[in-house]
Amino acid sequence: MNTFRPIEKKDIEFFLEFMPDRCFTDQENFEKYGHDETEDLVYFPEIVLKPETPEEVSKILAYCNANRIPVTPSGARTGLSGGSLPVHKGIALSMEKFNRILHIDENNHQVTTEPAVITEVLQNTLKEKGLFYPPDPASKGSCFIGGNISENSGGPKAVKYGVTKDYVLNLEIVLPTGEIIWTGANVLKNATGYNLTQLIVGSEGTLAVITKIVLRLIPHPTKDLLLLVPFFDAGKACEAVAAIFKAGITPSGMEFMERDALVYTQEFTGDFSIEVKENHAAHLLIEVDGFDSDILMGECEKIMSVLENFETDEILFAESEAQKNSLWSLRRKAGEAVKSQSIYKEEDTVVPRFELPKLLHHVKAIGKKYNLHSVCYGHAGDGNLHVNILKGNLSDAEWEIELPKAIREIFTEVVNLGGTLSGEHGIGLVQKGYMDIAFPEVSLQLMRNIKNVFDPNGILNPGKIMN
Ligand code: LAC
Ligand code: ZN
Repeated sequence: MNTFRPIEKKDIEFFLEFMPDRCFTDQENFEKYGHDETEDLVYFPEIVLKPETPEEVSKILAYCNANRIPVTPSGARTGLSGGSLPVHKGIALSMEKFNRILHIDENNHQVTTEPAVITEVLQNTLKEKGLFYPPDPASKGSCFIGGNISENSGGPKAVKYGVTKDYVLNLEIVLPTGEIIWTGANVLKNATGYNLTQLIVGSEGTLAVITKIVLRLIPHPTKDLLLLVPFFDAGKACEAVAAIFKAGITPSGMEFMERDALVYTQEFTGDFSIEVKENHAAHLLIEVDGFDSDILMGECEKIMSVLENFETDEILFAESEAQKNSLWSLRRKAGEAVKSQSIYKEEDTVVPRFELPKLLHHVKAIGKKYNLHSVCYGHAGDGNLHVNILKGNLSDAEWEIELPKAIREIFTEVVNLGGTLSGEHGIGLVQKGYMDIAFPEVSLQLMRNIKNVFDPNGILNPGKIMN
């Protein structure tokens, strides 16, 4: 266990000297940088710093390393596992000033960007040049690309195009000891030594601070079609997922929404444009994309013929861009909608796609055993199910004592099915107590050793990923 010392007057004076207008110790900033989107968790930092250059980040980290002051990197704070919460106090290192797209390399289909560019802004800027950066977390309108890299974010498009890691070629990082390095090279193939780039991706701000990012891009698809499929049985909806892939189709979106997820989202958004009938237990939202309408139409016909075996109600074919946007918005707002219902706990379970029906079955059976109401939705094509457990009318004691037991059982089943704890939200603070289910001690010790190599004094984002 590392021991840290509290921020002192002399520390503040040190920071004020080289960034006088970008050190904050007021209540408003503490509140802002003391929470992310993870449940209702709040941890105040002792100071908020907003560096503007890698050199400033380096100076801050070298000083904190020498003085044993914890530093928690902070992006847009849209995370769902508490990764940016300064649980050991110290510094909240806001990266928000690093907000420029530096270079779009159309010759090589690459972009170099700073980490605080909003993901959707980056995507839209690239789209103007016909280029596509596919990973699209639900928070894409507000999250930062740097945060996406730290969490290895996914989103609906991952099912066809892969997750954040599949696009990261090279990173400029600042080590906790202050050195500034590039992790790799701006090339599509790289068999040169250990893969430091991918070690940083998904490391949740525990190994280094990212200051520049090089991403690979692909041509932007020009056409897409969207289907909403109601099922009378949620298990059948899950079974249909693998069947569609086995028929040779790779949709660009294959999302699952349990009845409650959709109904809550309708109530939350006021968008009742689709009818959810009494006997609709779940929906799949299926998108195909590409460059040729006839091919996409053929794919939809194939999907519909697969679905004939799965007892669906009438399939809705989105007719306009407005309808597509409204359906996607219903799906993207599911998280917020469920959150608005009750105190909740969100899990980000992931299993091999074909095991999805079993995962749903276990979640519901364990929920029944512990008297917990769960609402499930997520990226079915990836076997990635967001399991939201609602506190509802449970007493605080029931919630605090029974919930961790139920979660442990769910995760144990997930791992038995060949899956793991998090598909895209990360481990951060809230899942670290379950890492022993996913890894044997020898693997956890390897991870601790890696952390120690990068961060010998454990100052960078302490208290995350592992106990
Ligand atoms: C989503 C977020 C919660 O899929 O990952 O909506
Ligand atoms: Zn998700």
